[in-house]
Amino acid sequence: MGLIDIWKRRAWRRDDDAIRAFDGLAPAIVITGGSDGIGLALAQEFASPDFATVLIARTPEKLETARNTLNASGHNNVLTLPLDITVATAAGQINTFLGTHGLYADILINSAGIGTTGDFALEPVEKLTATTELNVTALTTLCRAFLPDMLVRGRGGIINVSSLGGFAPGPYQAAYYASKAYVISLTRALAHENRGQGVRFATLASGPVNTEFHARANGESALYRHILPAMSAEQIARSTKRGYSLSRSLIVPGIFGNLIALALRILPAMLTTPIVAILLKPRMKVTRPKITNVTTNGPTKD
Ligand SMILES: NC(=O)c1ccc[n+]([C@@H]2O[C@H](COP(=O)([O-])OP(=O)(O)OC[C@H]3O[C@@H](n4cnc5c(N)ncnc54)[C@H](OP(=O)(O)O)[C@@H]3O)[C@@H](O)[C@H]2O)c1
Repeated sequence: MGLIDIWKRRAWRRDDDAIRAFDGLAPAIVITGGSDGIGLALAQEFASPDFATVLIARTPEKLETARNTLNASGHNNVLTLPLDITVATAAGQINTFLGTHGLYADILINSAGIGTTGDFALEPVEKLTATTELNVTALTTLCRAFLPDMLVRGRGGIINVSSLGGFAPGPYQAAYYASKAYVISLTRALAHENRGQGVRFATLASGPVNTEFHARANGESALYRHILPAMSAEQIARSTKRGYSLSRSLIVPGIFGNLIALALRILPAMLTTPIVAILLKPRMKVTRPKITNVTTNGPTKD
């Protein structure tokens, strides 16, 4: 055990009865969104012979491809669980899956996330709620499901994937940016509540990364995709592994990312919000429909 672990465990007290529940089980790294983009790169970076790697996402074919990619890099202890983590039973299903394979979640990486771009008032309500259900509710539920056992073991950790967008309001990606602010706030609060108990907490807050995320979020036409430098998922994963090893609770990859993070944190919102709005505004020509009848399900359009 290294010096960082000794310090992280300074207030932890072993409970022999509770810890016996994990006898015979092996540690796993559980990664939501592990089939693609940043999640897959994190899986590559964190996979090790000492752990099983469990990849979770909805699409079985993408999970299979991801598993093959990991196998090809010499990581053979890889399991896949096709699951929509926004369903109410997701945490229970993951727990059962781990138990069936003789594993426990030593490190939980919440990478699955989606975004949505456009005028908030005109966005389909389903898109907005899908964003908060995945980025906020599912992430919170999984942290709550796996943290108590980590505290019993006095080891392990949770990495929650946020974004530089979590440091500022994001007009035209309003719900997405707000969801990422929640992730930063939640993770830092958990790190404080559980300090000294042996569990590491990290928020990953990166700038743009070249993945399919932007196309899925309808963000490709926005200015930020054309003028802001984007990192690769592999660079992000390397930076995250380094930050996690050093037990940093906030990981911002890259010099440019750190400069932006600093600016967003020290400049007033009245200055940063209009700049972020220019960067995020979709450039496609949009004919704004006239809002005629506002209901609780959102406006209907002419
Ligand atoms: N890309 C960026 O520029 C960037 C920047 C900062 C932060 N981030 C954050 O990084 C995280 C990963 O983004 P990414 O760029 O890697 O996105 P991505 O390439 O679109 O990958 C998203 C992953 O999440 C899975 N997923 C989506 N909905 C799910 C659900 N309901 N249940 C389970 N899995 C689900 C996807 O697989 P299925 O579709 O098969 O389920 C996929 O594996 C997100 O939280 C994002 O907000 C991204």
